[in-house]
Amino acid sequence: MPATILIGAQWGDEGKGRVADSLAAESALVGRYAGGDNAGHTVVVGEHVHKLHLIPSGILHPHVLCVLGNGLVVNPLTLLREMDELAATGVDISPDRLALSTRAHIITPAHIALDRAAEAARGKDAIGTTLRGIGPAYMDKTGRSGLRAGQMMDVEGFVEALQQHIEAANARLIQLGAEPLDPATASQDYVDAAERLRPYLKDTSSLVNDALTAGQRVLCEGAQGSLLDIDHGDYPFVTSSSPTAGGALIGLGFGPTYVDRVIGVAKAFATRVGGGPFPTELDGPLASRLRGTGANFWDEFGTTTGRPRRCGWIDSVLLRYTAQVSGFTELVLTKLDILSGFDTIDIAVAYELDGQRIDSPPATVRELERVVPIYETMPGWSEDVSGVRRPEDLPQALLNYVDRIADLAGVPITMLSVGPEREQLVRFRG
Ligand code: IMP
Repeated sequence: MPATILIGAQWGDEGKGRVADSLAAESALVGRYAGGDNAGHTVVVGEHVHKLHLIPSGILHPHVLCVLGNGLVVNPLTLLREMDELAATGVDISPDRLALSTRAHIITPAHIALDRAAEAARGKDAIGTTLRGIGPAYMDKTGRSGLRAGQMMDVEGFVEALQQHIEAANARLIQLGAEPLDPATASQDYVDAAERLRPYLKDTSSLVNDALTAGQRVLCEGAQGSLLDIDHGDYPFVTSSSPTAGGALIGLGFGPTYVDRVIGVAKAFATRVGGGPFPTELDGPLASRLRGTGANFWDEFGTTTGRPRRCGWIDSVLLRYTAQVSGFTELVLTKLDILSGFDTIDIAVAYELDGQRIDSPPATVRELERVVPIYETMPGWSEDVSGVRRPEDLPQALLNYVDRIADLAGVPITMLSVGPEREQLVRFRG
């Protein structure tokens, strides 16, 4: 059986975790392929609310092998914390269930300090990163001076390399006006971490290819979102990896011939954390209503950073673009329940830029900041849909809204989520 790639179709936080959880039920292997612990996936199972940053949601299905692929940048301390938290709720996190690519890169304390220092130095032009050291770790990777997870096999050699790396990073920290780190102190926790992670280190590309050639389904679980892609997002307000479909192949090490499903996940409205353009952004009462108060974990506050998310209407110009970049074969829309009670709902169908109508996003941030969305207004619905499980029980206005989005994006919508619980999904047949 072939591979499914699951991708955030907006700026991240689309609710991929719970969709991945649902798809993992029919997968043998679930792999993360890009990013690191800047991601935050929330999955609710019974009374447990699992907030996962690194480990794929597939871990909550006992039959699934979870892989952290070569495309990731991994903070070993976060990984171990997450493993311990899962183990405390009874989840099996033995090396039979979880593998870390020997080719993945390591996030060090120096990367985290550099992320902070670089953001501080950017001042009002800050990207609004998650401060997890993601950018600096990828910079070292592409600069060919990074540390790979496989180096943890030889703990002594790893710690020596880590200390040398911290010493070298200190020069950059001082340049940015930050305090240098003491290499011995900063690398202390990494000794234990390397010992503990050794049994998990594997050639994960082989694991993925073995599963595929054995006819098992592999799910590539995307993190972040297409509009944060280093190439296809709103550069420089992006992350440093490729959350789009191409990233899955590189970040897990398998070929495109295996892929038969590319599923985009989009929220029924739009959110963004951090800086950067957001053409359909709202403020005032409408934004507050979409955001929620923060009293519930599904309100629009970052899973990783706790920051309030910027909120706005859905943008079909961007959705069409992200569908094209990754070749979505289907789309899942989440958080439809949050839109209940709006009299009308707007959809951006095109932009106006300098008096011209355009149907695809301009490539530069300067232009994207200047576009004026052209909206289509649709009637809303008042019914609470959180208990609905069958399409025929949904309000007609909601179905019209969903159909219009599918039409504008040019991709069929196959599933809706209507609440945070595992079973609050509505699947369309055929
Ligand atoms: P970084 O990935 O921490 O370098 O952050 C770069 C940009 O991507 C910032 O705007 C972050 O807010 C955003 N970002 C990174 N990861 C996520 C995510 O999982 N969800 C939403 N935004 C994210």
